[in-house]
Formats: sequence, C-alpha cells, structure tokens
Amino acid sequence: MCRSGSEDSRSSLRILSHDTQMSLEDLLAWAPSGSPEAALAGQVDFDRLPGHVAVIMDGNGRWAAQRHLPRVDGHRAGIDSVRDVVETSARLGIQVLTLYAFSVENWKRPPLEVSVLMGLLKRYLRLELESLAANDIRFRVLGHMDRLPDDVRRELEVGQDKTHSNHGMLFNVALNYGGRAEIVHAARRAIAAGVRPSDLDEKRFGELLYTSGQPDPDLLIRTSGEMRVSNFLLWQIAYAEIWVTETLWPDFRARHLLEAILEYQKRDRRYGGITQPAFVGGR
Ligand code: FPP
Repeated sequence: MCRSGSEDSRSSLRILSHDTQMSLEDLLAWAPSGSPEAALAGQVDFDRLPGHVAVIMDGNGRWAAQRHLPRVDGHRAGIDSVRDVVETSARLGIQVLTLYAFSVENWKRPPLEVSVLMGLLKRYLRLELESLAANDIRFRVLGHMDRLPDDVRRELEVGQDKTHSNHGMLFNVALNYGGRAEIVHAARRAIAAGVRPSDLDEKRFGELLYTSGQPDPDLLIRTSGEMRVSNFLLWQIAYAEIWVTETLWPDFRARHLLEAILEYQKRDRRYGGITQPAFVGGR
C-alpha cells in the first residue's frame, strides 16, 4: 500500500473500485513469478471468494517469546501482517475484512501492553489512513469506543469519517469488542426502541448489531493453532467456515490468506441442509 518509504518499501496497492474484481493475470502479475503466492493465486476461483473474512490474530506473545523479546515486540511485528492482509484482501476483491485487535477481556493485560496496543492502533491509522482512503477502503470500528483513550478514539473517528463514503473493501477492526457484549447491547437497543417480541426476528436483531448491513463472515481464520472463537462475532459466525493455522500472527502473510481461501473453496457449505439427494431408508 502507499506508505512512507521508511515504513515499508513494497509496491503500492493499485486502486480498485468497488466493482473491480481482480483478474488472474492481475494477481499473477502482483505475486512474483515462481513464488508460493503465485502458485496459490493461480488456484483461486474468483467467482467463489469468501465475501467476508474475519481473523482472530493470535500468537504475538509467543512469537516474541521465541525470540526472547518482550511481548509488545510481537504486537509491533504483527502490524506488518495487518498491512499484508489488508492489502492482499483488497487486491483479491474481498468485500469485508474484520480483524480482532482488542477484546473487552484484553483490558486485563498489563497496563504497558494495553498502552502499546493502543499506541500501535493510533500509529497504524496515522500511517495508513491516506492509503486506505486512496484505495477506496472503508474503515470501521466494531466495539464500544467510549473506554478507549481520547487520542486513540479521536484518531479512529477521523479514520471512520474520512473513509465513510468509500465503496471498496470494508475493513472492520474489532476493538474493545466482545461478542456477548454486542448481543446484550443489541437486546438493550431492541427494548429501548420498544420492539415487540413478535416483531423481533433474526433479520431485525442482526440490524441492531455493530455489523448491521454487512454480510456474515464466510471464513473465520485463527492463527497460532488455538481452537477457540474467543467471544468473537458470536452471532455472525453461525455458518462461517473455520480455518486454523499453527502460524503465529506476526508470521502470517498473503500466502497464508491464499491457503485459507483455497481451503475454504474446497468446503461443502450446507447450512444445515444437504447437497446430494440422500438415501433416506425404507423400501
Ligand atoms: C493476540 O496475541 C493479539 C492481540 C491481542 C493483539 C493484536 C493486535 C495487533 C496485531 C496490533 C494492532 C492491530 C491493528 C488492526 C492495527 P497474544 O498477545 O494473545 O499472543 P499469545 O497468545 O502468544 O500470548
């Protein structure tokens, strides 16, 4: 993505309009010839991309511990993965990308770690906002911003405002987010709005969630091998395909995202139904 040279020297993200879908030729031109990315990209079915990819970024602390570094260095290194995944998702033509950056439970971490994470979010937006805006990416926060430090909240609000009318990829960052808290918040909103029990159905309830108007995640990725959903998008992931990789978040790059998408494209999504006429017994 377009960013200051000292931060990263990789090529700029080509501007994609909301209805531009990347052709295989475009993608192969972006991925170096003979690279694992090019080989993986060549197998992607662009007609069956997941509309919404959600990611539980995990393993920053372990990545740092493996290098005898403080935990916060793992979070710092994780920023490069964030850039790579945002850039690759936008290039592929993913409609919605949601990254889980800070949960309501993460306030229990040591104050220094919380403060570094907040600083990283602020810094990321400062450095990337122009590029996000130029590439038609809309930035949104999922979660309550009221508990965040004033300076961080202001930066996030600027980010949301400046990208508000963009129509390309929607990039959600879940921040001070909890799935249960979101559901309780939606229930309170329904009660406060005087919605009658008989009028409340799944569609109406979904409109009261932070993700109102967005498609549910099709693909949920979790890094670092943990088999948990950790209070993330509990309502929305009802039918998401889950892909867990042992790769720690700071090592996660475009090729891992492509691997996840290819695995997703092999899955048979039945939504509780059946795909083949089944033999149901009897004579
Ligand atoms: C989990 O690793 C990671 C987090 C709690 C924070 C993720 C945040 C970032 C990568 C930076 C900011 C994000 C954006 C979108 C700019 P962990 O600390 O739980 O790792 P561990 O399980 O190995 O201890």
